[in-house]
Amino acid sequence: MCLTFILSNCAVHHEGATNYGYRREMSSDVARKPIRKAVFPVAGLGTRFLPATKAIPKEMLPIIDRPLIQYAVDEAREAGIEQLIFVTGRGKTAIVEHFDTAYELEHTMSGRGKALEVLDPTRIQPGNLVTVRQQVPMGLGHAIWCARAVVGDEPFAIFLPDEMMVGNAGGKGGCMKQMVDAYNEVGGNLISVLEVPQEEVSSYGVIAPGKRVSDALTEVTGLVEKPKREDAPSNLIISGRYILQPEVMRVLEKQSAGAGGEIQLTDAMAQMIGQQPFHAVTFGGKRYDCGSKVGFVEATLALALQREDMADEVRAMAKRLLAEG
Ligand code: G1P
Repeated sequence: MCLTFILSNCAVHHEGATNYGYRREMSSDVARKPIRKAVFPVAGLGTRFLPATKAIPKEMLPIIDRPLIQYAVDEAREAGIEQLIFVTGRGKTAIVEHFDTAYELEHTMSGRGKALEVLDPTRIQPGNLVTVRQQVPMGLGHAIWCARAVVGDEPFAIFLPDEMMVGNAGGKGGCMKQMVDAYNEVGGNLISVLEVPQEEVSSYGVIAPGKRVSDALTEVTGLVEKPKREDAPSNLIISGRYILQPEVMRVLEKQSAGAGGEIQLTDAMAQMIGQQPFHAVTFGGKRYDCGSKVGFVEATLALALQREDMADEVRAMAKRLLAEG
């Protein structure tokens, strides 16, 4: 089994070097392994959605009939990711329950002749869901570092489930799928970015863009977390999806507190620039900021309007409500 794994990695390496002509980068980036693992930091308290999130994790709030976390997990699977690593905390067990088998529910539904397909997205292959705890809220960088033993020596993806990324119909797939495709070309580290109005940059991680590699791919020459508007190197913000090399864990280990007194992933990533390839992917699709109440409503409406089973009714309802003022 070990041998198969090594050989399959060699195959990926070889194919990359031959088909895409990245021989120079590949020689420094010997570890172009497939992205099989994803970390989901879900330990946050969700204070912006209180009282809704007093007893329910914010990641379990539904957009129509799926909790927010389900959309991120679906996106990960579409990108070929097998192992899901949840960095959880106290009061967050409902997230793990959601991906477990609900024996009584299934038994009762089957007994009543109800189809079980509706539960299919919640099924995880045994062993492919791992949880670790972040005992103290010390920031995103600290949350990711908590997963270091499970991530091991492999590149890995990160999903911030608050950021809901929906691919264009008939397009190039979801955000992580587009990032994995880019990773197969350039290797190294990648983050998804999008443009926001300049007055919003101070709420996000912001990139300094370098050379443009293609329409959707840009080199990253600098990163800064929550800069003042006047200090921001651009209006391109990090939008909650990452592919990182495992070396970031070693950087995080020594990372001191940054913006907001928290250990920032952005600060650790900034130190990797120049050591390894670092690119930004402009996502072809739509992003909804479900960390904000208005963003949450927008996502709910937008997705309802895309659903065949309810689009007509919702459109008529929205028109009526708007007319009523
Ligand atoms: C985090 C990251 C930030 C990123 C943002 C995206 O910030 O630190 O770089 O732009 O997510 O939503 P947070 O929203 O946790 O303050």
